Amino acid sequence: MHQSKAKITAIGSYVPEHIMTNQYLEKLVDTNDEWIISRTGIVERRIASEHEFTSDIGYNAVLDLMQRYNKAVDDVDMIITCTFTPDFKTPSSANLIQAKLGIKQSGAIDLNAACAGFTYGLHMANALISSGLHKKVLVIGAETLSKVTDYTDRSTCILFGDGGGAMLVEYDEQHPSFISYHLDSEGEKSHNLYCSGLSSSMNEEQLLATEKIVQNGREVYKWAVSSVPKGLNTLLQNANMTLDQIDWFVPHSANLRMIESICERTKFPIDHTLYSLVNYGNTSSATIPLAIDLAVKEDRIKKDDHLVLYGFGGGLTQAGIIIKWAI
Ligand code: COA
Repeated sequence: MHQSKAKITAIGSYVPEHIMTNQYLEKLVDTNDEWIISRTGIVERRIASEHEFTSDIGYNAVLDLMQRYNKAVDDVDMIITCTFTPDFKTPSSANLIQAKLGIKQSGAIDLNAACAGFTYGLHMANALISSGLHKKVLVIGAETLSKVTDYTDRSTCILFGDGGGAMLVEYDEQHPSFISYHLDSEGEKSHNLYCSGLSSSMNEEQLLATEKIVQNGREVYKWAVSSVPKGLNTLLQNANMTLDQIDWFVPHSANLRMIESICERTKFPIDHTLYSLVNYGNTSSATIPLAIDLAVKEDRIKKDDHLVLYGFGGGLTQAGIIIKWAI
């Protein structure tokens, strides 16, 4: 494993004000609060306003980070916004966030790895800094999934919400945060979860709304509960660590039943698992930073705790990293 020289030095988050409850969804589609809670664990989710987009959410998450940790970001030299719901196809949401923050001379890119986006983003930040090329990287996971959710499809509209989280990653040779990583892609299964773009080739199989998320929930569920435990095992092996050395498991918050099943299969205690889905739903690339920030605010994560962050979903792709919390 390449020696990391990068440290996570601050975290922030933001969710839109408007709450969409399960009871409200009962008015839109044939569903009910009890079904949603028992099948997913989700109680409510946040919804961006008509004029609020991913760059606004990401920007607010960075402002929160700056205020809480007294951090300046004007010397940030790379902004990575992890999202599959950017404001525009171009410019990137990272470009827009850079402009809103007034940062000069920084790289700015969007990274699309759907629900695995944030862990990919942190992995990239570690690589850029540890290689010596960059010194200070902002990694933002932000989504406005409500804008690509089909509110006539009861199997998907109950799941998704909007929100964002941000972490600052800085050069620090003495106290690096990054221990190991594991990435994987199974593009041959991509038709099980997609959001239409320029090609309509996947729509031939399922003639559902275009520009909206289409999902074969059962197949994604089966894939996640079988492949994530295997990936987790590889991740631990890469770090030469065992599960009992991990203080907190932060899987992508898609569905509580899925998380329970992964914990059962890996024998990881569910009470040391962090998730953000109860009040925010599945916010794709934002679920992991939101879950960590909720735990940080509740003072549950301590300095030097070991965390497994494990993103998985659309692609189908997965990305896991082990970090040592250093704040
Ligand atoms: N309310 C009530 N009933 C619903 C419903 C809803 N919102 N959505 C589906 N149903 C019905 C189905 O029509 C089906 O009815 P039938 O038996 O009469 O055909 C029944 O509930 C069971 O459907 P199924 O799809 O097997 O449910 P499930 O237990 O697999 O739960 C998901 C559905 C979507 C919650 C679940 O598959 C899931 O969470 N998958 C993973 C999705 C995910 O995490 N994606 C993000 C990417 S990581």
